Amino acid sequence: MIFISGAAGHLGRAVINHLLATFKVPASEIIAGTRDAAKLADLKAKGVTIRHADFDDEAGLAKSLAGVDRFLLISTDAMAPGARARQHAAAVKAAKAAGVAHIVYTSMPRPETSAVLFAPDHAGTEKAIKDAGFKASTILRDNWYFENLFHSMPIALKSGTHYSAAGQGKMAHIARDDQARAIAAVLAKNAPGHAVYTLSGAKAYTIEEVAALVSKATGKPLNVVHVPVEGLVQGMIGAGLPEAVARIFASFDDNIAKGGLEGDAKDYKSITGQEPQPFEDWVKANAAALAG
Ligand SMILES: NC(=O)c1ccc[n+]([C@@H]2O[C@H](COP(=O)([O-])OP(=O)(O)OC[C@H]3O[C@@H](n4cnc5c(N)ncnc54)[C@H](OP(=O)(O)O)[C@@H]3O)[C@@H](O)[C@H]2O)c1
Repeated sequence: MIFISGAAGHLGRAVINHLLATFKVPASEIIAGTRDAAKLADLKAKGVTIRHADFDDEAGLAKSLAGVDRFLLISTDAMAPGARARQHAAAVKAAKAAGVAHIVYTSMPRPETSAVLFAPDHAGTEKAIKDAGFKASTILRDNWYFENLFHSMPIALKSGTHYSAAGQGKMAHIARDDQARAIAAVLAKNAPGHAVYTLSGAKAYTIEEVAALVSKATGKPLNVVHVPVEGLVQGMIGAGLPEAVARIFASFDDNIAKGGLEGDAKDYKSITGQEPQPFEDWVKANAAALAG
């Protein structure tokens, strides 16, 4: 049995879709774990088992993981540094208590050295998994999704200006659905042993290159203005964001400037046997949504 946590999220749903449609795993071998079962009625109708999964309830999660061989631990969306580490540690303990053989975890690139403020949560979870002594484990260090641009680009295109502290750093971002394909491939194949992979796109881009492609696809001008990290923080606070959130978002740019999201698609290709979707194609296909 394969258990997917966070099944009502974008990534969890996409992983289940790939398990069913791409890798032809029978629905009877899939358990979708979520805090809100009502959101997964469509999967239930397809024969997928739905169970409650909340990392804030370790004992309940251990019960839900009964009889599970492979467990996909999708990182939660908690932002405050330390919060994910606590939730994920509980999920790792619950999986161990339930006798899971193979744990698969969605981490981030270079978590030990990343400037992202919650990176220690990912590094800590990787260590917790290693220390727990599962029979098999796969750490998938997911590069940034193309889809993150749906949050920043519509606002930037409205004013024609994108403020960035990423400097000339490059990001090898990748489509979220490609991440899901690779994750589903790992779950379906169930290779023995312990492995760490980084799932990055085929090419790394500076923020100016990203802005130029978005501008071309949407037909709207977009100018990148470089600011220091603290300037970005203050700008976001001025726009109404709480300081703690502004500092986390600004740390994303700081990380890019320091090379934290550079990478290549070697691991993606070895896992899936195919190329990831090129960013240029994704931008063209999503121009309307990027324009806002
Ligand atoms: N690489 C990137 O660029 C990037 C960008 C954004 C997020 N992420 C990370 O990747 C994860 C999946 O991305 P997404 O796009 O699917 O995010 P999403 O659609 O916002 O989903 C959030 C996920 O967090 C889960 N979650 C929240 N609280 C939880 C809890 N207490 N216990 C268990 N699960 C909990 C949700 O599960 P249910 O609602 O089903 O319970 C859901 O799967 C995110 O949660 C975040 O850690 C990565």
